[in-house]
Amino acid sequence: MHILRLSKFNSTSSDSHMTHYDHKRRQFLQHTALGIVTAALPGFVLAEDVQIKSRPSITFKPDVEVEFISRVAEIPIMSGANTSVFKYYGKLLKGPKTSLKAIPGYLGPILNLVHGQKVRIWFYNQLPEPSIIHWHGMHVPQKMDGHPMYEIDQGERYVYEFEVKNPAGTNWYHSHTHEMTATQIYSGLAGLITVTDEQEQKLDLPSGEFDIPIIIQDRRFTVGNQLQYIHRMRERMMGFLGDTILVNGKANSTIPVKTRAYRLRILNGSNSRIYKLGWKDGTLLTVIGTDGGLLEKPETYPYIMLAPAERVELWIDFSGRELGSSLELRSLEYQGVMPQMHGGMRHSRGGMGGMGMMMGGLYQGETFPIIKFHITKKVSDSPTLPKTLVKMRSLTEQDVSNPDQPIPINISMQHMSPQLNGRSFEMYDATNAEKVPINTIQKIRISNDNKLMGGMGGMGMMMSMAHPIHLHGQQFKILSRTLKIQDTSDSYATVKDGFITSGWKDTVLVMPGEEIEILKPFENYKGLFLYHCHNLEHEDMGMMRNFYVS
Ligand code: C2O
Ligand code: CU
Ligand code: CU
Repeated sequence: MHILRLSKFNSTSSDSHMTHYDHKRRQFLQHTALGIVTAALPGFVLAEDVQIKSRPSITFKPDVEVEFISRVAEIPIMSGANTSVFKYYGKLLKGPKTSLKAIPGYLGPILNLVHGQKVRIWFYNQLPEPSIIHWHGMHVPQKMDGHPMYEIDQGERYVYEFEVKNPAGTNWYHSHTHEMTATQIYSGLAGLITVTDEQEQKLDLPSGEFDIPIIIQDRRFTVGNQLQYIHRMRERMMGFLGDTILVNGKANSTIPVKTRAYRLRILNGSNSRIYKLGWKDGTLLTVIGTDGGLLEKPETYPYIMLAPAERVELWIDFSGRELGSSLELRSLEYQGVMPQMHGGMRHSRGGMGGMGMMMGGLYQGETFPIIKFHITKKVSDSPTLPKTLVKMRSLTEQDVSNPDQPIPINISMQHMSPQLNGRSFEMYDATNAEKVPINTIQKIRISNDNKLMGGMGGMGMMMSMAHPIHLHGQQFKILSRTLKIQDTSDSYATVKDGFITSGWKDTVLVMPGEEIEILKPFENYKGLFLYHCHNLEHEDMGMMRNFYVS
């Protein structure tokens, strides 16, 4: 029965996709059987770098040791029948008890790490398809980063070993399987990672039950409560959108809270949906952290744009609110992230309203509730919001080695396929422009102006959509965001106040017509590190490339 559902997943993309995949897979296994994959590699990658990592190292002494198993599971999500999902199960083998916390539902356990800890993770894939885990946001060596070149088959094992170099903050882990990342994450292969450190512990932020993960995902269910993944032309081009919003794996959830302050760790774990977060009663959002960790000081925003893979940490104080009342976190209306090619499609729900339109359900940019906090208990004391948070590493343009020659990441759409610098993903490929000297800080310029479609007049801009661009390895600082092409400025006005540029980031939403300059350190680790669109349908279509750090 599971098999039936799974093969349906695969057959929604073309059949030739499978053949192509199996062929590659076979080729890969042949090479790895010899121990190395040199034949498939350009000369510059050390053969040693791509060996399967299936054994622990004897010299690595882990502080935390965890086992992860991915397998098919039957989980209650909607009322009625259980839903067949892919799920990570975790087991703590060594280390503090708090290191791993299972949460009800299909999501994997929360991995709670401490800066400086050495972590070993044994990953066993029991799914009827290949898989690999990526630790999104964590700064780890190439072999520990879950590059799809390392995917393992059913029954195989992969051993991860890394030291936690990240500062306190919220990261996540998810599958990163070649051309199957979208379906595997959609099926449930994701979970949260928290990191704490001394700086954070001094702050006395809300902790324990007052520190709440909010993992937002959109899904579709069949009448029989099974996950439905649609992958027609619209989804391939624009990304999959669900019609049911889940928070921590549950629909319509309400979280009971006390009259005091809370810390919310919000992750957008959706395939392609972009949220414009806002409190229903107009309360400003107080941000204390972004992808890369805590900010220097709290900041307030009228709303926050949260694209796939982005995290934001909010401080919300329910003190003074009435018992029995509730506060809703919503996604607010916005425009401009979808192609305009069919013209004036703003809010067409039916008919041929344009590419933003979908078959029933929630469209991108519509208003809908995400989660309700229900005030159920009065308490007399609450921590107060610190005036300053942490000392962040500072980076300026003076620190970069290429101030006048930024590395380009040009987003374009060619032959109905979104690309980076006019190229699609190649497993071991990195162009000269993608070679980065180790221990340098690079300026990178991401442009979403469809330059490569220059010949098509205004067509390029009409085909443009927003892309959440993610870079593996260390987080980056945003140097500038500029709207280069003004004909999108009306819709841009509905999102522009929701971008946080002060914190460290690993994913940035690049709007149509926008140019974003970032400063990114490439320190400690050599090898191939991915950068890609985190619209998972785009990623699987090849909107992904490697940097080669050497
Ligand atoms: Cu969240 Cu390359 O991934
Ligand atoms: Cu990542
Ligand atoms: Cu994209």
